Amino acid sequence: MRLTVKKADKLKPKPDDSKLGFGSFFTDHMFNMDYNPEEGWHNPRIEPYASIDMDPATMVLHYGQTVFEGLKAFRTDSGNIRLFRPKNNFSRMNCSSHALCIPEFDEAFVLDSLKKLVAIEKDWVPKAPETSLYIRPTIIAMDAFLGVRASNTYRFFIILSPVGAYYSEGFNPVKIWVTKDHVRAVRGGLGESKTAGNYAASLYAGEEAHRNGYTQVLWLDGVEQKYIEEVGSMNIFFVIDEDLVTPKLNGSILPGITRNSVISLAKLWNLKVVEREISIDELIDTFDSGKLKEIFGSGTAAVISPVGEIKYGDKVLVVGNDKVGPVANRFFKAITDIQYGRAEDNLGWIEPVL
Ligand code: COI
Repeated sequence: MRLTVKKADKLKPKPDDSKLGFGSFFTDHMFNMDYNPEEGWHNPRIEPYASIDMDPATMVLHYGQTVFEGLKAFRTDSGNIRLFRPKNNFSRMNCSSHALCIPEFDEAFVLDSLKKLVAIEKDWVPKAPETSLYIRPTIIAMDAFLGVRASNTYRFFIILSPVGAYYSEGFNPVKIWVTKDHVRAVRGGLGESKTAGNYAASLYAGEEAHRNGYTQVLWLDGVEQKYIEEVGSMNIFFVIDEDLVTPKLNGSILPGITRNSVISLAKLWNLKVVEREISIDELIDTFDSGKLKEIFGSGTAAVISPVGEIKYGDKVLVVGNDKVGPVANRFFKAITDIQYGRAEDNLGWIEPVL
């Protein structure tokens, strides 16, 4: 396959780095590639950012057959641009695709195309501290058909968005609401896939959390509503005594790449990291007995996000005096130092672009 490139005639004005927020600005170009059963994935192209023309019967609009990813490009102090663990994103995307009956794509080819796209958009990689270029690869089902089956045709696109912090709190503690009334995913379902339906399933409880002054929802397992799973936009870690505890992957939790980075660093630092089931009742017990030192989330968009408060029914757990704890701080610094080139990349996580 040969990647073609068509440049935009007119470039958009770039936003001020201090006003980025998350996910509101998009660059001048995008990557597109199509699939049909005769040609497989074909016609890969970088072209001006544009709307996608769709028949109202397009299957993705009705049945949600779609997968996506989130990764970032960073600008170092010396002006180099690099991606963080992109191979992991594309391999996870193919796993998600498998679960959604979407045909597999060539990961090395797409990564190479992404590097070319980011190189074209290099001036869009923001410069201010803790900003980055968020990358959203997505595949959507394109058949115009109303019967329920897997589509025969697909569009793969990648769009780029310069971003600041995901949460308005920045690197400050967020408040998390544990819902007793809703579930995000069940084992054997799509919980471990990065697909739209998981996020749609999170909206109702998310709104309820917001109405009550909480930033995000902490999901319990979909069967017994007892075991802690994840926060939808991030995985979750608990510092209990000296141990770092995180729910083990069970099929309904997203296998986060930042989660994996935290676990790898913890092992390198000889911290005891335990992936296991942890129930909400056990968490409350650790809080009541003074053993729960810190809570933080991990995700591409959120990076490391300290959690200062958790509410479950009438029980409110204020953890670490609602301050950023030393463990969250250490992971945040170590990961961002590698991403921005302030520390050696000893783990092979960085993919240079320019
Ligand atoms: C990410 O961390 O990249 C995510 O995809 C979470 C959210 C923005 C959907």
